[in-house]
Amino acid sequence: MSDSNISEAFREAAMAVFETLEPARQERTRRLAAMSTTYVATSRDKLLDHAFDAIVENAAAEVFGKAAKQRVLFVIGESGSGKTTSVERHLAKRPQFRPRKRADGHVVYPMVSMEAPKPLTPKGLARAGLKALGHQALNGSLTETELFEFWKEQIREQGVLFLAIDEMQHVLRGTSTQEVQNVADIVKSLVQIPGWPLHLILSGVPALGRFLEQEGETERQLKERSIIVEFQPMTYPEDVKVMTKVIKQIVTVDAGLAADGLDKSEFVHRVIHAASGAFGSVIQLTRKACENAMRSDRCEVSIKDFEVAYALASGCRASQNIFTAAEWNRIEPGQSLAEMLRNVPARKHSKPSKRAGA
Ligand SMILES: Nc1ncnc2c1ncn2[C@@H]1O[C@H](COP(=O)(O)OP(=O)(O)OP(=O)(O)O)[C@@H](O)[C@H]1O
Ligand SMILES: [Mg+2]
Repeated sequence: MSDSNISEAFREAAMAVFETLEPARQERTRRLAAMSTTYVATSRDKLLDHAFDAIVENAAAEVFGKAAKQRVLFVIGESGSGKTTSVERHLAKRPQFRPRKRADGHVVYPMVSMEAPKPLTPKGLARAGLKALGHQALNGSLTETELFEFWKEQIREQGVLFLAIDEMQHVLRGTSTQEVQNVADIVKSLVQIPGWPLHLILSGVPALGRFLEQEGETERQLKERSIIVEFQPMTYPEDVKVMTKVIKQIVTVDAGLAADGLDKSEFVHRVIHAASGAFGSVIQLTRKACENAMRSDRCEVSIKDFEVAYALASGCRASQNIFTAAEWNRIEPGQSLAEMLRNVPARKHSKPSKRAGA
């Protein structure tokens, strides 16, 4: 979630906490926040630039009545690969997506972004879509068709040219082919609003690709209409160079610390493995390692800080830590946490919660 989603009331409450901190901790809080908001650009952004340029220019080409068919941009990648962060970044940087004043004085939002509800049903999607357009309280008795018609009408009336839906795979896990087909039909119908060539940006985990894999007319048409950007997992040795650069940048530039032994190829291989190859997870782990060094009042980040950061993030036992184990390559990252939870006996009765200080 981006900062823009945080309410003023929360900000005020956070400020109250910030003011209780002594100056050195306030300074550390500032540095940590600055480090966490930095965007790390890579060659993937060039690909996204091309894709976003294509849909923006495609929408503009309608002025001449000649837009290309491709009006759906799929951004696909494993969890933690950085889809949400990258899409948010690319949406925010383009002036064409910003609100503008129409000739009649109305402010219009050419781009609307939303998250697919979970579980995702056609009705739920339409309701979430209408909510993103400011329609909170909808008559509960509206049928699926009525909701969809109203949604499409509102898209047109409010001048929405681009609709971004994140987590679009929610319908696909464990659902039947028919349900996948239903949502694929909806996506297709959204790009076929009469007189309104809407552009879609759909992001999600690789299961989202099932929309495009299916046999049949709808899927073939959807594929023809799509641009696909896939965030591939980081692998060894191919991505060692780029990940070494990313780790160094976060430690030395974003966090302003020194790096001790973080350019060794085996260490970077361990980082990639610990993050299951997910680009965003590598960033998060590196930031946590920096945080650990800062909290210990050190100016240097070492492999030990990654060991601690990984232990805290995974809950693994010491022998299963990818940064220290001899046979680290055999450790399934993420498994250790699941294993730990399996050994915790389920609680039959939960105790009533207590407020701090009560
Ligand atoms: N390009 C980037 N620059 C800086 N930080 C990033 C970048 N990409 C990802 N991150 C960091 O990695 C984290 C995970 O990325 P993100 O939430 O975008 O992944 P995702 O692919 O959307 O995952 P999920 O499928 O679980 O929603 C983010 O919270 C952010 O801290
Ligand atoms: Mg995401």
